[in-house]
Amino acid sequence: EQAKFNADLKRVVAEVNPRLYGSFVEHLGRCVYTGIYEPEHPSAGPDGFRQDVLDLVRELGVTTVRYPGGNFVSGYRWEDGVGPKERRPARLDLAWHSTETNQFGLDEFMEWTEAAGIEPMMAVNLGTRGLEEALDLLEYTNVPAGTAVADQRVANGRAEPYGVGMWCLGNEMDGPWQLGHRDAKAYGELAGRVGAGMLQIDPGLELVVCGSSNSSMPTFGSWEKEVLRQTWDVISHISCHAYYEEKDGDTQSFLASAVDMDRFIGVVAGVIDEVAAEKAADGGGIVGTDGADASDGAAGEARARKVGISFDEWNVWYQRHWESEEKVTGATDPWPVAPRLLENSYSVADAVVVGSLLISLVRRADVVTSASLAQLVNAIAPIMTEPGGPAWRQTIFYPFAVAAGLARGEVVECSVAGPSVQTAEFGTVPAVDAVVTVDREAGRGLLMAVNRSLGDEVSLGLSSILGSGPGGGTHPDDDLLAGGAVNASHVRVSASPAGVGARASDQSHSLEQSAFSAVTRVRM
Ligand code: AHR
Repeated sequence: EQAKFNADLKRVVAEVNPRLYGSFVEHLGRCVYTGIYEPEHPSAGPDGFRQDVLDLVRELGVTTVRYPGGNFVSGYRWEDGVGPKERRPARLDLAWHSTETNQFGLDEFMEWTEAAGIEPMMAVNLGTRGLEEALDLLEYTNVPAGTAVADQRVANGRAEPYGVGMWCLGNEMDGPWQLGHRDAKAYGELAGRVGAGMLQIDPGLELVVCGSSNSSMPTFGSWEKEVLRQTWDVISHISCHAYYEEKDGDTQSFLASAVDMDRFIGVVAGVIDEVAAEKAADGGGIVGTDGADASDGAAGEARARKVGISFDEWNVWYQRHWESEEKVTGATDPWPVAPRLLENSYSVADAVVVGSLLISLVRRADVVTSASLAQLVNAIAPIMTEPGGPAWRQTIFYPFAVAAGLARGEVVECSVAGPSVQTAEFGTVPAVDAVVTVDREAGRGLLMAVNRSLGDEVSLGLSSILGSGPGGGTHPDDDLLAGGAVNASHVRVSASPAGVGARASDQSHSLEQSAFSAVTRVRM
């Protein structure tokens, strides 16, 4: 089958915020312990960081990492994780029914992000805690020496503040599973108070308020509206979380999972605009997702704010299996230390879906200002490790690395005309989805394309590319573009049924490499 693709390089949709290529490290299972941190590992330095994992993290191209949770943060006392290690207490982690040893904490995480060249993104506990603890944490992290809490950091060996710019106000507070779960009004009031206090310390912070845990939550939509109303003056982002998995053997619907993400982003962007309009009508002169300021006058301008989406948890996650998988491990300790949790093995089909979700995120770079692949190591992760043993890439590593490395600069308008596929979950959807980015500084562009058809190979022809080449030519052969992250086994965009069925969980990279072998670069 044939699909035709058009792009106009002069029509810029949005700049791609490098924060779209973030990830997530939670104290969950073996993400931290025997994941990024394992002092006994042969590759570990004096800091206890696994160098083999650091190398893969750099190769993955991750730009930001959210920490320390996740559900974990809602019961976390950050003070437990700083100071001399022998004095740090062990605590129950109610979120993951584990024992937290606190041998890795804030200072270790900051040091690790510096070693990895990554921007840290912190979350505060709004489950069991509130304003005072958040302010102390911020003081410890960002305030120069000379105050009681900042001086604790100095005493712990770090003179300079870390200068963390992005902070999440709690995690998934709409979920009944969340420790300290509240309704939208109660959470919105708390987040608004905590956020305002944090901005009193540093008005330049970017705060993320919790949106919905997924688009099927019964409060989806109304939750966003209420928390945005309560926190509008203090926040810069609202979060979205989404995990996808194949259900009941319906691979075709699974391959089209990004349709849900597209709708999710569209609905939340709509609510942001709605609340922006309300605030503007109230005299706030506020803007929504497009950044246009409807206000007049300095007061309105001073309060003008563009609220973006922080899609700070997204991935494929086989949630149905995780309880039984963990039973298989035969663990008898009811509160184990760093147990094997959520250690999903990813197939080529999963990589196709991850590539497709990346296309959706990049396409909506006009509103998605940050995103985190959840998570980074061992727990639903692109990187796996064995304690004392090797570290390796899973299939989903490859589309992420391609996008993070090459889908930079600006998203430009593109469209694809071609065959459709029928899905039980989403109805009829286009088989091929694509996005084009142009990195003018680097002098290259990238076409990322995915074939969501389970059975049919589709060849993607370039119909027209406007605006490429020095004169903005229209010929498809203009020396623009780009290649692409093609999630099949060839430049022809196809999901080969054989590839889809295979699960690659071991250290053999042949499947994964062939799945993304079509990436090429052409100079502009
Ligand atoms: O990423 C795993 C978990 O998924 C996170 O802790 C939580 O926020 C979400 O439900």
